Amino acid sequence: MYSYKNKFLHCESINIKDLHKEFGSPFYCYSSSILEDKYTKLKKALKNDNSLICFSLKSNSNQSIIKTFSLMGSGADVVSIGELKRAIKAGIPTNKIVFSGVGKTSEEIIFAIKNNILMLNVESISELNQISSIASSSNLIAPIALRINPDIKAGGNEKISTGKKQDKFGIPVDEAIDIYTYANNLDGIKIKGIDVHIGSQINNLDPFKKTFNSILNAINILEEKNINIDIIDIGGGIGVNYKDEKPLNINDYSELISNKFGSLNKKIILEPGRYLTAESGVLITKIIYIKENRSKKFLIVDAAMNDFIRPSLYGSIHNAIPLMENAKSKARENYDIVGPVCETGDFFIKDFSSPELREGDFIAITNVGAYGSVLGSNYNSRPSITEIIVKQDKYSVIKEKQNIDDFINLDNLATWQKS
Ligand code: LLP
Repeated sequence: MYSYKNKFLHCESINIKDLHKEFGSPFYCYSSSILEDKYTKLKKALKNDNSLICFSLKSNSNQSIIKTFSLMGSGADVVSIGELKRAIKAGIPTNKIVFSGVGKTSEEIIFAIKNNILMLNVESISELNQISSIASSSNLIAPIALRINPDIKAGGNEKISTGKKQDKFGIPVDEAIDIYTYANNLDGIKIKGIDVHIGSQINNLDPFKKTFNSILNAINILEEKNINIDIIDIGGGIGVNYKDEKPLNINDYSELISNKFGSLNKKIILEPGRYLTAESGVLITKIIYIKENRSKKFLIVDAAMNDFIRPSLYGSIHNAIPLMENAKSKARENYDIVGPVCETGDFFIKDFSSPELREGDFIAITNVGAYGSVLGSNYNSRPSITEIIVKQDKYSVIKEKQNIDDFINLDNLATWQKS
């Protein structure tokens, strides 16, 4: 969906040059067809008819992106009242919404229960007691799953691994069994499922295999105790190819799900975020200056770590392509692509090898649709940037660039500073 036509990079049928002419730079651009293709591919791969994809909003919670999936029948995985409200507003039926996270507040719990969400994924006994007391004092029943921690290492890096015993997430399986037994007699609580999420950007099946065995083991013990589990929520984590990675084969993943759980007659929930959104997005940015010192050439671009922080925060590897194809140029240069923010960590790509680029040229940083704009900030008092979605020959602004005065005006002088 991103390809060169007459030497210019297009998103579907739209020449991206026309977008920066109209909207300036930097901006995020998404391909609607890629979002739809990814969803369809995953849905088709799932052999279990009783499966539900709950798009993990944290990867990209723009209304238009959520709406794209909601129209395809997706549910949602949310982690805050803000995400829950976003999911509802984009038309996701509440009975297809699961609520994850270690620190749900009373306000979030009551809002979720009153809106009849599918289930709350509970992460501690304190949280369970809190849900029980909130639900029973309003004469409501809260549907819950316990999130287990299988003590398995998985994920692209330490910061996005969530299933080891030293991580803050989930409950060790043996403890979870005791808590399920306790929950079974607790007012206001209805046990619906079991939940797990071991990490993100996982590109091999092994950790999933071990995790699914751990779930099966827990379900066996629970059912011996007459505690019924209707829903198995296997979380997200499916990796994508950012540059040179070999991504998980979605058919193998699906095969594994049906091998392990196919005969159980239970609903299977998946919570993919990155898999659905990463590849759809690019960040278009202009080269303001080229700076050369004795050992390096820097492309100083007009986007920065406040717009896209993955390389700074996780050392994530991304790729970039120029907006104008320069196929004839054989000469290659090595650049560090950096932003204007006053931090050495403000970079996008180190040692980017490319045909020679010039000041005023544009580049697209690729695969930034997941954990891109959602992790944006106003650091260095930089406004958040325009976001545009393309569908064939149509395009539409799905988030306006922030007005600088709007966020300055959120500040107040202290009462004693006002004259
Ligand atoms: N479910 C739960 C409970 C999660 O915590 C997450 C991600 C997901 C689903 C979706 O995982 P995915 O399918 O996207 O791997 N900012 C980091 C990623 C943090 C992931 C946090 N949890 C990054 O940019 O790599």
